[in-house]
Amino acid sequence: MSKKILVLPGDGIGPEIMAQALKVLARLQRDFGLDIAIEHGLVGGVSYEAYGSPLTDETLLRARAADAVLLGAVGGTQWEALDISLRPEKGLLGLRSGLGLFANLRPAVLYPQLASASTLKPEVVSGLDIMIVRELTGGIYFGQPRGVRRLANGERQGFNTLVYSESEIERIGRVAFETAQKRGKRLCSVDKANVLECTELWREVMTSLAHDYPDVALTHMYVDNAAMQLVRAPKQFDVMVTTNMFGDILSDCASMLTGSIGMLPSASLNASGQGMYEPIHGSAPDIAGKGIANPIGTILSVAMMLKYSLGEPRLAGCIEQAVSTVLDQGLRTADIHTPDMRRVGTEEMGEAITAALG
Ligand code: IPM
Ligand code: MG
Repeated sequence: MSKKILVLPGDGIGPEIMAQALKVLARLQRDFGLDIAIEHGLVGGVSYEAYGSPLTDETLLRARAADAVLLGAVGGTQWEALDISLRPEKGLLGLRSGLGLFANLRPAVLYPQLASASTLKPEVVSGLDIMIVRELTGGIYFGQPRGVRRLANGERQGFNTLVYSESEIERIGRVAFETAQKRGKRLCSVDKANVLECTELWREVMTSLAHDYPDVALTHMYVDNAAMQLVRAPKQFDVMVTTNMFGDILSDCASMLTGSIGMLPSASLNASGQGMYEPIHGSAPDIAGKGIANPIGTILSVAMMLKYSLGEPRLAGCIEQAVSTVLDQGLRTADIHTPDMRRVGTEEMGEAITAALG
């Protein structure tokens, strides 16, 4: 039976980059025997415009019924003044929590062809291959209580809550240890245990889990130091595991090591292996509609979907190889362009990768 994919392009550059990912999928269906059924839906600002909500119950039900969800990006300046409960980002967070997607895998891999596109020196980033495991359904993003309240003196006060239960830390920790076992067997847990009790518990749980994974070398790092080490000597890292908010920040930071945030895919998985796949970049309203966005992060997200949800690691490899081939040909979108290369738009990049599938 064919696997069901729900495609949610979202806002801003989302539809443009998704169109390229769909070309790749169509080619795999036509010529490589990939058996999938694709459905389409709305999430984020476009869903708010159509239905008055950034994520409808119906879309969430369709996402639950799918084998995988492929998402573009959400958000835009026109929705920034809305109540926070109606903003596009709530649609994305609703999918993550509604599907129980607690494990977010964000690989930061440097294609050798892009060593000079990074803002860091080529020798600092060449050979870079990091996996950031970000907790995605807990922490300060979801903690209660939250809000803005009025103090007795009339002043307003904003507040959010950082909470993690032991079981939440343990389940993301196990994913991270298992990920490290399949890679370089080194795991760095990132926290702020010198200041925040919640992450002191995080460190304690990670340390106790290490006994179950004697082949993995566990280290700990404070998040401020981790941010610095990522730009100072990033190759010291193999797998990093961290909280929802620290992972959000560190993965943007790590993306620049690879040349551009436009390059990075992600997989968000739940306990039963169901997944949602999206590039880690946002909706980039400033370049939306201009046809210049980099579709590679989305196309590589398709590769992750093939690997983690569709049981097609060989086809995932074909996509990664096609991206590499096109970079070898010298094609570059604006974000990864260097003077001696050929600048192409979103469509041309998508078409070249589709053609390079062989
Ligand atoms: C990401 C994004 C989201 C996040 C936003 C759009 C809510 O920055 O996926 O990293 O903060 O998780
Ligand atoms: Mg982010």
